[in-house]
Amino acid sequence: VSVEIDRLRRETPGCEHVIHFNHAGSSLMPAPVRDATVRYIEREAEIGGYETADEYQEQLEAVYDSTARLLNASRNEIAIVENATRGWDMAFYAVAFSSGDRILTSHSEYASNVLAFYQMRERGVSVETIPNDEYGQVDVSALAAMMDNRVKAISISHMPTNGGLLQPAAEIGAVARQSKAIYILDACQTAGQVPLDVEAIGCDVLTASGRKFLRSPRGVGFLYVRESLIEQLNPPFIDLLAARWTSRDGYTMRTDARRFENWERNFAGVIGMGVAIDYALDLGMPAIWQRILERSGLLRSRLSSIPGVQTHDLGEIKGGIVTFTKEGVPARAVADHLKRQKINVVVSTVFSTRFDMEDRGLSEIVRASVHYITSDEEIDRFCEEINFLS
Ligand SMILES: Cc1ncc(COP(=O)(O)O)c(C=O)c1O
Repeated sequence: VSVEIDRLRRETPGCEHVIHFNHAGSSLMPAPVRDATVRYIEREAEIGGYETADEYQEQLEAVYDSTARLLNASRNEIAIVENATRGWDMAFYAVAFSSGDRILTSHSEYASNVLAFYQMRERGVSVETIPNDEYGQVDVSALAAMMDNRVKAISISHMPTNGGLLQPAAEIGAVARQSKAIYILDACQTAGQVPLDVEAIGCDVLTASGRKFLRSPRGVGFLYVRESLIEQLNPPFIDLLAARWTSRDGYTMRTDARRFENWERNFAGVIGMGVAIDYALDLGMPAIWQRILERSGLLRSRLSSIPGVQTHDLGEIKGGIVTFTKEGVPARAVADHLKRQKINVVVSTVFSTRFDMEDRGLSEIVRASVHYITSDEEIDRFCEEINFLS
């Protein structure tokens, strides 16, 4: 494994410049991803944007196959979009919510999703959080007890932005399958980190960004919508790709997931995401996940042995997002200090995951997110910095 990791680190130009513990924000692109993206842009400059898209048509189409393979879905169920939130919005706002409907969500739901729920609440929809179990993750039996025929949506962040907690997505799916509720899984932090199988999970909608654990360029992501549901979902806005103006006063909507897409897009980014997904699939998602579990477990245990450091990740299974605070040092000061040492982390605040942060009395925590390329030396160096910081 270490030989392979050395090769993968050499193939990651950023490893020479920074200790990157921000893969949950935006990872470091591998060279093949960067090269494919840059080559595409160069080609646009050489022969024109539309002409490049024509030339790359096969590769652009192949991105749907790669994304479908990543999720165990079919290519008709994939929409390529700008980012996770926009994909999520296109599906969420397509649901015909009406007064009295219920939305059930987790305590660790992402802010942008909750903001959309609150917009819907203004139309008489109720928004309810599912209690946590003893691990701080969704209590699946509590969810089962909350279900009735007014539950229109169950929306879960598979792994929250503020910690390594892996929600029991398939167990939640088993409950969702017993009802008519749409099950929306925000897999922004798990795509490229955790093996995903929409059939095993039983979700109806799944969204992700390319730039995070998948290691693609920024500004591209995808939306999966279960085939049987696509035609029931009316996108909040449509353009001439999503639908066709087929008669003077009428139109026909696409019947595949591309009804949720835009005609115009960042084609170079799409190509980059395709290469990034293939790169992950070649390495093998189970192997990536095992390595991330091991890396993050090591970092978490090393950090917890430093005096004054408290780690904050919940869940029975904890993935690549490691969060912590150091007594007497504000999270922002920790991040600023690390930045001066060319170590990348972010500060996760109450504004991203208010239910959870308020429940735990936290306002700001340091988020250090690792990946399979994270080395022992990087973990040592990181812990040294945190140890000496006061
Ligand atoms: C759980 C979760 N959902 C959604 C998002 C939003 O993704 P995007 O910025 O691509 O819309 C993030 C980003 O941090 C996230 O962590």
